[in-house]
Amino acid sequence: MESLRIYTETPYRLRGQVTISGAKNAVLPALAASLLTAEPLQITNVPLVKDVETMLTLLQELGAQYELKKKTVNIQVKKITSPQAPYKLVRAMRASILVLGPLVARKGKAIVALPGGCAIGTRPVDLHLNGLQKLGAHITIEHGYIVAEARRLQGAEIEFEKKTVTGTENLVMAACLAKGETILKNCALEPEVTSLCELLVRMGAKIDGVGEETIRIKGVDELNGTRFRIIPDRIEAGTFMVASALTTGDLILNGVEPKHLEAIIDKLTISGAKIEKAGHHSLRVIGSEEIKAQDIVTAPYPGFPTDMQAQFMVLMTQARGTSIITETIFDRRFAHANELIRLGANIEIQGDKAIIKGPTPLSGAEVVATDLRASACLVLAGLIATGQTTINDIEHLDRGYEKIEEKLKALGVKIERIKNNNHNNNGAKHG
Ligand code: EPZ
Repeated sequence: MESLRIYTETPYRLRGQVTISGAKNAVLPALAASLLTAEPLQITNVPLVKDVETMLTLLQELGAQYELKKKTVNIQVKKITSPQAPYKLVRAMRASILVLGPLVARKGKAIVALPGGCAIGTRPVDLHLNGLQKLGAHITIEHGYIVAEARRLQGAEIEFEKKTVTGTENLVMAACLAKGETILKNCALEPEVTSLCELLVRMGAKIDGVGEETIRIKGVDELNGTRFRIIPDRIEAGTFMVASALTTGDLILNGVEPKHLEAIIDKLTISGAKIEKAGHHSLRVIGSEEIKAQDIVTAPYPGFPTDMQAQFMVLMTQARGTSIITETIFDRRFAHANELIRLGANIEIQGDKAIIKGPTPLSGAEVVATDLRASACLVLAGLIATGQTTINDIEHLDRGYEKIEEKLKALGVKIERIKNNNHNNNGAKHG
């Protein structure tokens, strides 16, 4: 196990520039799309995070050959040699479910371990399975594995009961190689979904309605390789934007896509931060002395992202007044509140709402995070908690943030990574 230790004599005021990495939630479906063609894909601006390693390991087990050099992956699946995504990898990363659609579409068979629940919720995959069944896949659940088979998927009309990011991604990928036309309704609008569709079109897929709620896909017999650049990680960007707002900082973020950050920019502006364009793909975030309280309701894109909920909770502990955060996407995504309370925050959880009263001074302590974004929230808290804050089990953080301690050190933060000897049992992961 490893920990991060932050030494905070007086609260930091982040100053300087930080470069945002490629989006974890865009690179994972892009890598899965390599299963749809026998030709090579070259993917650039890849974030060097644990989940990318896990996805590449999984794809290799399915028959992929790849080379990862700096931030570029060259990957090719000449032949799918196995249809099985083993439990140990699916347990390590729920996004492994993204190989389901491509495997059935290209190979006619997929055996993917059922991703269990995780720290942030039960995380069912019924919408993925119902959609594939509508495309003609025969699906059974055997010994904890999804077994999906179809000689050739047939286009169909599918309406998602609720917006699902990886559900939309799985069905779009499957439909690309189905026979006939597929119409997907109530699709997720996240930029990562749009970016996947753009990649698939570059590979020769026939897709109309990219970036819209209704997507039409005309199946083709095969797709070809291409070169593709991963979009910036809007959640990493949002995390650093909150860091600047929290520490009355003056931070320039480079390599961002401002149009993906509108909901985050709105809420940060209401809290009192000043945000201005600092270049085509750069933003400047200036924190204010007085942080204003506000209510937040998480929602599917373009609403306020659930993946920014934990980070905003830290900011609201320093806001004058009462803030109510309502989490509408996941049923158990407030675990970080208990750890913030241990640092001195005043938070009360009532069902899907967190009521935060501030400002409350935070003091450093040893804390542990149970999921990726909760870990990020504790790092943010460590920037303003006086004394020393030790965040344990940071392998969650390493799944989605590339070299976060190096980026913070470059902004003046006294932070170090500590290797621990004690081994404790790790809960199931999410992602
Ligand atoms: C994606 O997860 C992201 N992961 C998550 O990011 C993100 O929090 C989530 O979308 C919501 O934006 C990746 O893209 C790899 P959903 P996903 O399907 O696709 C329910 C992070 O920190 N649902 O959009 O699994 C589900 O329980 C991770 O980077 C069903 O009921 O989320 C949830 O309540 C965490 N049945 C809601 O829909 C299904 O078949 C939205 O889930 C699928 C989902």
